[in-house]
Amino acid sequence: MSLTDTYTLSNGITIPIMGFGTWQSEDGDVAYQAVRWALEAGYRHIDTAAIYGNESSVGRAIKDSGVDRKSLFVTTKLWNDAHSYDGARTALTDSLKKLGLDSVDLYLIHWPNPAAIRSQDNQTWKETNAETWRALEDAYKTGKAKAIGVSNFQIHHLEALAETQTIPPMVNQIFLNPSDQQPDLVKYNDEHDILTEAYSPLGTGKLVNLPQVASVAKKFNKSVPQVLIRWSLEKGFLPLPKSTHEDYIKANADVFDFKLNTDDIAQLDRLVGVGGSHIDPDLSDF
Ligand SMILES: NC(=O)c1ccc[n+]([C@@H]2O[C@H](COP(=O)([O-])OP(=O)(O)OC[C@H]3O[C@@H](n4cnc5c(N)ncnc54)[C@H](OP(=O)(O)O)[C@@H]3O)[C@@H](O)[C@H]2O)c1
Repeated sequence: MSLTDTYTLSNGITIPIMGFGTWQSEDGDVAYQAVRWALEAGYRHIDTAAIYGNESSVGRAIKDSGVDRKSLFVTTKLWNDAHSYDGARTALTDSLKKLGLDSVDLYLIHWPNPAAIRSQDNQTWKETNAETWRALEDAYKTGKAKAIGVSNFQIHHLEALAETQTIPPMVNQIFLNPSDQQPDLVKYNDEHDILTEAYSPLGTGKLVNLPQVASVAKKFNKSVPQVLIRWSLEKGFLPLPKSTHEDYIKANADVFDFKLNTDDIAQLDRLVGVGGSHIDPDLSDF
C-alpha cells in the first residue's frame, strides 16, 4: 500500500486510498497552506465542501502546486440549502467556479435530511433527495462530476434513493473510526458496491491521545493518529485525516511501512464509544 494506491469505484474510476480533509481549515492562508503541504507530502486526494467555505483557497493551492490536474482527485459536497434539481445544479457550478476547476472527481450530497426540509410525514427528504440526485446524475453524464455519491446517508436513505436512481451512488462518506464503526451501514455499502469513506478518522482530534492505542503505537514506533489511520486502511475504508500543521500532515501520510496484526485490530475494534459517535442525520439541527 502507498499514498497513491487506489480503490476502483463501481463506475471504473480510480480514487486514491486516502484523502486530505479540510473541514475547519480556515479559508485563506490556513486552508491554502494546509493543502500545499498535503500535496507536497504526496496526498493526491483532497476533500472539501461548499459549507467549509474554503473552496477558493483549496483551488488556489491546487493551481499553485503545479501538480498535474489529472493526477489529482478532488471532492466537494452539496450543502443543505441546495436540495433540489436546480439548487444542486447551481451549487455545483458555484463550487467549480470557486475551485477553479472544470470538473470535480467526486460530488456528494452532504446530508440526507436537512432540518429545513424535514417534514412531519417524514417524506419530503425522499422527494428532495430524488430530485437532487437527478441533478447529480446529469452532472455525471455531462462530465462535470467524474463520480457521484452521498455522505451521512443511513441505510433507509440509501434504500429510498435506490427507488428512483438510474445511476447508483459510488461513495458514502460517513463518520467512521474505532469509536463508532457503523457496521450495518458499512455492510450495506459493501453489498451495494458503494465505497465507504471514513471521515473523522481521528475523531476530530478526540482520539489522538487515546491511551488504549498507545501500546500498539509504541510497538511500531508510530503515533496514535498513525495507528488509527492504518486501522481504517486495513479495514478497506478510505480515511480522510485533516490537519493544518505541516508535521501532522506529513506524519499522517507516513502509514505505509507497518501492518497491524489481528490482535492489534481486535484491540482497536473494542474501542466503541470512547470518543464520540455519528450524528443521526434525521435528528440533526442543520
Ligand atoms: N461529510 C461530512 O459530513 C464530514 C464531517 C466531518 C469531516 N469530514 C471530512 O473528514 C475530514 C477529517 O475529519 P475531521 O476534520 O473531523 O477530523 P480528524 O481528521 O478526525 O481530526 C482532525 C483533528 O486532529 C488533529 N490532528 C490531525 N493529525 C494529528 C496528529 N498527527 N497529531 C495530533 N493531532 C492531529 C487536527 O489538528 P490540526 O488541524 O490543528 O492540525 C484536528 O484537530 C474533514 O476535514 C472533512 O474533510 C466530512
